[in-house]
Amino acid sequence: MKAVVLAGGTGTRLRPLTLLGNKHMLPVGKYPMIHYGIEGLRKAGITDILLVTGREAVGSFAGYLGSGREFGVSVTYTIQEEAGGIAEALQLARPFIREGEKFVLLLGDNLFDDDLTPYVEAYEKQPGGAMLLLKQVPDPQRYGIPVFRQEGSIARIEEKPNNPDSNLCVTGIYMYDSHVFRLIDQIKPSDRGELEITDLNNVYAEAGLLTYRELPGWWTDAGTFESLKEAAAHVWEQNE
Ligand code: DAU
Repeated sequence: MKAVVLAGGTGTRLRPLTLLGNKHMLPVGKYPMIHYGIEGLRKAGITDILLVTGREAVGSFAGYLGSGREFGVSVTYTIQEEAGGIAEALQLARPFIREGEKFVLLLGDNLFDDDLTPYVEAYEKQPGGAMLLLKQVPDPQRYGIPVFRQEGSIARIEEKPNNPDSNLCVTGIYMYDSHVFRLIDQIKPSDRGELEITDLNNVYAEAGLLTYRELPGWWTDAGTFESLKEAAAHVWEQNE
């Protein structure tokens, strides 16, 4: 299976650090943030990777990851000219994914300990639709939070809700097939002018085509100072 890794955006919650460079190149322990996602994909046997980032940052990613050879993967690069949203960045991967092909979408600020292999295998067997990985969090207002139907399926996702339906958040590890690109064509920019991943996932949810699994292990979205600090502490602890 291939992966699309998103490493664009503006990183406003990590200013002033992100005035100096791209969020995903900030140090987390011994390595830049992006290192961990690439490693996590490789461990699950996902070695054909497209990295999407902004024009000002692509040089630093190419400098660090190169062709991917030293990491045991193949990395190619695509530029997102403006931070037009996660779904807009994903749409740029259209030429990378063949018709009918399945892939993982990983947000580059997500760090995780779990082996993705069983989830990828489960999604391979799924006849269609998309799959999300969810995680229990103490601060659900920060994330996309599913609202469940009585029988347990996802009815819809609310983005950063004030009154979250649960403590289970949508992580930035998603599985789609090539059909997703036609669905992105159908969604409209949000009030903040972005093509939102949550609006895209809600198209699947409404059609009853959005499955999920819960991640048991450690996970964080290192996009705030608090979670960046937590991520660094976790990886230092693991490397000692
Ligand atoms: O981490 C999980 C959360 O990620 C989900 O629970 C939310 O539903 C989802 O919307 C997203 O929320 P964030 O507020 O964390 O999204 P953020 O704007 O930080 O972007 C996430 C990643 O996507 C980040 O690594 C940068 C990349 N990105 C973002 C935008 C807006 C791009 O590559 N291009 C973009 O235009």
